[in-house]
Amino acid sequence: MTSQDDLFHPVIELPEATRRARYDRLVGLDDMKLRLRKEAALLADPRRLQAWAANHHGRDVAALNLFTDRAPLFVFAGDVGSGKSALAESFGCDLSDYLNLPVYLYRLKLATRGSGLVGEMTSLIGDAFTHMHDAGRRATGAHGVRSVQILVVDEADALVQSRAAQQMHHEDRAGVDAFLAGIDGLAGAQVPVIVVLCTNRVGALDPALMRRAAATFTFTRPDDYQRHAVLTQALQGLDIGSGTINKLVELTGPSIDRPGYTYSDLTQRLVPAAVFHAFPDRPVRDDDLLALAEELQPTPVFTEER
Ligand SMILES: Nc1ncnc2c1ncn2[C@@H]1O[C@H](COP(=O)(O)OP(=O)(O)O)[C@@H](O)[C@H]1O
Ligand SMILES: [Mg+2]
Repeated sequence: MTSQDDLFHPVIELPEATRRARYDRLVGLDDMKLRLRKEAALLADPRRLQAWAANHHGRDVAALNLFTDRAPLFVFAGDVGSGKSALAESFGCDLSDYLNLPVYLYRLKLATRGSGLVGEMTSLIGDAFTHMHDAGRRATGAHGVRSVQILVVDEADALVQSRAAQQMHHEDRAGVDAFLAGIDGLAGAQVPVIVVLCTNRVGALDPALMRRAAATFTFTRPDDYQRHAVLTQALQGLDIGSGTINKLVELTGPSIDRPGYTYSDLTQRLVPAAVFHAFPDRPVRDDDLLALAEELQPTPVFTEER
């Protein structure tokens, strides 16, 4: 069996200051955050649902049964640079506050795959789920759940591709199957483990996987309002005029020949580029930002051919 260090990046206990700040800075995902909090809370600790039914309906309700066999899987799909990884690795902070329990963040090392050994991908995934299962079991006691474990499988593009995909290597198909088996094993076990799978290839997602997911969240590029919020936040303290921010919102939006900026185009390219222009001799000026917004090309939309 693969050791924990070979399977996962170092496990992180949440809440943690950096990740909480990252969670708070994510714009335009409020509906998702709220839904995720509720879904995750119920998956992690189904007793809360019974308590709610007893409280508000005075008894058990039939609807509760609908929740028992749900797989503890969330799929985060959509455009690059739209907050999938950032949310996957930080929503545990919110969940921890909400449940008043520690949350442990596990991130699968998918990099281990591809060394070419047949069956390696399959056993990697199988072992990872076994680890999570054990951790979940250890966190479950007579008086309920003591902690929640979140497993993030990021950049799972190859893994989740439809098994029908022609060009799909045999090894990868086995990977999807192993993943599905792992999820199914968790679903019946009633352990506080939640799996989040992130992928840019929403179109290529395996249907069996989509069916299992408790929820699939689709991440998109920011609209005008969201770009305004991100820019205002990112430019805070630089004395940029509100007229300039409005102009930037316009310049970074979609046009006939190209898509709009992604969130990360704004936070990791446009604003840092303006800072580098000015550093170290002068302050950032409105014109720097406007010129850069004219010049920088947004990240192309991810298409299946690439
Ligand atoms: N919704 C958002 N609100 C604010 N910033 C965002 C948002 N989405 C992405 N970003 C910025 O872009 C960076 C990269 O996002 P990331 O989560 O890695 O994208 P993805 O995993 O979807 O490709 C984040 O660290 C953050 O700075
Ligand atoms: Mg990512």
